[in-house]
Amino acid sequence: MNAPELNAFTGATRAAGVSHAHESARAQVEGAATYIDDIPEVRGTLHAAPVCSHAAHGILRGVDVSAALAVPGVRAVIDAGDIPGDTTLAAFALDEPVFALDTVQFVGQVIALVVADDVMTARRAARLVKLDIEPLDAVLSVHEAHALEHYVLPAVHVKRGDAQAALRRAPHQLEGRFEVGGQEHFYLEGQIAYVLPLEQNQWWVYTSTQHPGEVQHWVSHALGLSNHAVTVECRRMGGGFGGKETQAGHLAVWAAVAANKLRCPVKLRLDRDDDFMITGKRHPFAYHYRVGFDDTGLLCGLDLEMLANCGFSADLSGPVADRAIFHADNAYFLEDVAISSYRCRTNTQSHTAFRGFGGPQGVIVIERILSDIARTLGMEPLDVRLRNLYGIQERNVTHYQMKVEDNILEPLISQLALTSGYRERREQIAAWNANSPVIKKGLALTPVKFGISFTATLFNQGGALVHVYTDGSVQVNHGGTEMGQGLNTKVAQIVADELGVPFDRVLSTAADTSKVPNASATAASAGTDLNGRAAQFAARHVRDNLAAFVAGLDGVGAGSVQFEAGQVITDKSTRTFEDVVAAAYANRIQLWSDGFYRTPKIHYDKATLTGRPFYYFAYGAAVSEVAIDTLTGESRVLKVDILHDVGHSINPALDIGQIEGGFVQGMGWLTNEQLVWNEKGKLTTHAPSTYKIPATGDIPAHLKVDLWPEANREDNVHGSKAVGEPPFMLAISVFEALRDAVAQAGGQPKGMNAPGTAEEVLRAFD
Ligand code: MTE
Ligand code: MOS
Repeated sequence: MNAPELNAFTGATRAAGVSHAHESARAQVEGAATYIDDIPEVRGTLHAAPVCSHAAHGILRGVDVSAALAVPGVRAVIDAGDIPGDTTLAAFALDEPVFALDTVQFVGQVIALVVADDVMTARRAARLVKLDIEPLDAVLSVHEAHALEHYVLPAVHVKRGDAQAALRRAPHQLEGRFEVGGQEHFYLEGQIAYVLPLEQNQWWVYTSTQHPGEVQHWVSHALGLSNHAVTVECRRMGGGFGGKETQAGHLAVWAAVAANKLRCPVKLRLDRDDDFMITGKRHPFAYHYRVGFDDTGLLCGLDLEMLANCGFSADLSGPVADRAIFHADNAYFLEDVAISSYRCRTNTQSHTAFRGFGGPQGVIVIERILSDIARTLGMEPLDVRLRNLYGIQERNVTHYQMKVEDNILEPLISQLALTSGYRERREQIAAWNANSPVIKKGLALTPVKFGISFTATLFNQGGALVHVYTDGSVQVNHGGTEMGQGLNTKVAQIVADELGVPFDRVLSTAADTSKVPNASATAASAGTDLNGRAAQFAARHVRDNLAAFVAGLDGVGAGSVQFEAGQVITDKSTRTFEDVVAAAYANRIQLWSDGFYRTPKIHYDKATLTGRPFYYFAYGAAVSEVAIDTLTGESRVLKVDILHDVGHSINPALDIGQIEGGFVQGMGWLTNEQLVWNEKGKLTTHAPSTYKIPATGDIPAHLKVDLWPEANREDNVHGSKAVGEPPFMLAISVFEALRDAVAQAGGQPKGMNAPGTAEEVLRAFD
């Protein structure tokens, strides 16, 4: 057993607050960490491959499977006719067929599965299936969908004050249109499911999912079974990023339908191109805005229309588009505002959750507007931002009527501006640019204020089980899933501290619907808040049992029994945790417990989108410096300084990793990651050869991350704050720095859309 490490904040020998290595780090480096495709295959396992629509919209006249079935090794072709339960997927809007029925709605929609003895045979045979599709008009652009009123869900309008009157009164006005691209998740482990028949029509599902409970629900719905007949397990994902929140469920259902028909274990692993073609991505957005402002840069009136490209079905588009509305203020007080959000239906993949969940699509538009106001007035953009920040005593209520009570924006931004040398560098860069005819630099500081909690209030609950075994070792299981973010590590740290044992005495086990039922998706960055607290409560119940037992032995009050550094201490005695556990077991004391947590204080009205959807806000700010080549349009991110608020960090190394990773992923979204659909609605960028995520060489040489030292002002586990998504939005500073460089080079930043590819940068000089 290692000596307990010193807690960075308290100096105590505790697990939380210390940069413990990720619980899987060593196994991952050694190649010993198990992903779904590494699980030893059961004898008789068959492999499936999808048959996909090649038309964006059409009537499915016929499917000729004869050539596929003739391939040696092919066992069957599975389609909607093989579904014993409901042919509609149990997604909340009930608007997606499991397999396309009589119509196809996007290029890539799955119509059938070819099942064969091995995966390559299945994939080859899938290409031999002939589809007879009678084409129908396809709606590919969000503008066309809006004009035709093709929506997946009704529009939502949020208003405060009178935006039109404020705009009329405003000394200055700007009008703009803007488009932001989508983003492929590009998790390293592609989508996969492995379904095994158990006895008596029960099923075991291994899947790479952020939401095992939903997979259980969807599979049982499709098989026409009760939830209890299906168990879903996920030890870890090789990344999810929101892309495995609902999308993993489709694969599990497809594989389950095949396994049910053939009464064999079936594995379905998409190859990367199919994964691109089939699964949803970040929602592309289009905006139209009119904004008023005065001579000091103060916003007076904002009329904003947001069109979300949802793809062919609703999926999570409702809450994603809602979160875009909730974040259109970002850090700024919008006094008179009218926001209209349209959830447009197009014949493309059904866009889904992606880190930030619509938040980035809200934040980017207000940051753009403030930069443009600064340029119009000839003011320093940072001053315009500071001018519009939420206040402390007044100007502190959001457009959805939530009071911002934990605002640290002003001191945080001011500190970052100082430590990054922002104002001096603005001058230095202007001077540098004056002497550089081709390469021009740009600099921008943007903040983030991100609301933490699922906007669907009911999801803000978590459960856990803590088992102490007779040797004093501990297992914790909770409703959350591990996707690389370090949730299991943080939960184990929390449990270790609650029981006063060293970190390495606690083991986290796979997410499993038969252990913690009805768990929410691991999403909205709330994994640790919900499951960490639930695990803390579970461990506390066990500790209370042990404390009462020891108090009885020593004749002291149970409240005075201390658990620390592997010891149980009273005024009268010091025992090892192991000795106490062994003695407690012998005395029939319960050594395991459940724990349950629900987030307090939150509520809101779904119809008007007003109330308190978030328990608290996470804050941060970034300064990014970029250089552009005005002849080729190419750009580089040179230097980034971040100051981010994670409250009291449970694990600073993991948190800094999340901040760096989130930032770089956001940088990819806004620079090189471009999704291109052709005029027939086919995604043409469906492999790493044509879709460019940031490579190690794109990470800025200077990427400095500092943590804000203050604890969460709300009562959250260990004083921490959620960290998974908020830093993604700090990358908006990169896009604003690109636009600053374009402006400094005499180009037109106002028309620039995201991503700021080389072509887009060049276009600004047309
Ligand atoms: N970090 C890694 N390494 N891999 C991931 O897939 N997903 C992000 C974020 N960080 C992700 C990640 C997303 S979209 C969310 S919502 C959170 O992690 C979810 O985990 P948490 O709630 O435990 O932070
Ligand atoms: Mo994250 S987009 O909430 O899975």
